[in-house]
Amino acid sequence: MLNFILIIVYIVLGLVSLAALGLLMSFLVLLILRVPFVRTPKTAIAALAQSGLITEKDLVYDLGAGDGKFLQELVRATNCRAEGFELSPFFWFLGELRAAKSKKWKMHLQNFLQIDLSEPTVIFTFLAPAGLPTLMHKLKNEAKPGTLIISYGFELKELHLVKIIDPQPENPTGSKFYIYKKMV
Ligand SMILES: C[S@@+](CC[C@H](N)C(=O)[O-])C[C@H]1O[C@@H](n2cnc3c(N)ncnc32)[C@H](O)[C@@H]1O
Repeated sequence: MLNFILIIVYIVLGLVSLAALGLLMSFLVLLILRVPFVRTPKTAIAALAQSGLITEKDLVYDLGAGDGKFLQELVRATNCRAEGFELSPFFWFLGELRAAKSKKWKMHLQNFLQIDLSEPTVIFTFLAPAGLPTLMHKLKNEAKPGTLIISYGFELKELHLVKIIDPQPENPTGSKFYIYKKMV
């Protein structure tokens, strides 16, 4: 009986240590990247899905996918395929749990600055301005012509703007989707 209790205590301590380590690493990632985890609101995702810009033929990359909620909702609404890239182990793990329920999308514990951006037909991102300049360089060099590049909340300079979706027209200060097309 004592052995059984000790095993349970060790398992619980192990899980608590793993969670603490994940949170600590996530905090370090936040300090280094200066891009906090904030979700795109569900109503905004619905507005993007209803625009018809994303269909089941698309492969969507979410650069900085957080806990995967954005991709889960988008895939559910549009039936697209998707991959999310997240550097914070804690949020990636939450996303991995969500993605395990679907064959249409997956999560990667990876820095999106180290992936190849030539495959997706749609690239989505919701980053603080601190994370955007290095990404712009990659988008210009790697995204193939015709790729839709969607930024929530922040405009991306130097790309060809094709549309703005305002999920909350009644709120003048609300965040918008800025939709660009890679031309050449
Ligand atoms: C504002 S959240 C957006 C979450 C999700 N895409 C959404 O829209 O709901 C930005 C996320 O990007 C992640 N991130 C920032 N820079 C990153 C990088 N270079 N590689 C991978 N993830 C990154 C942060 O850890 C954070 O979870």
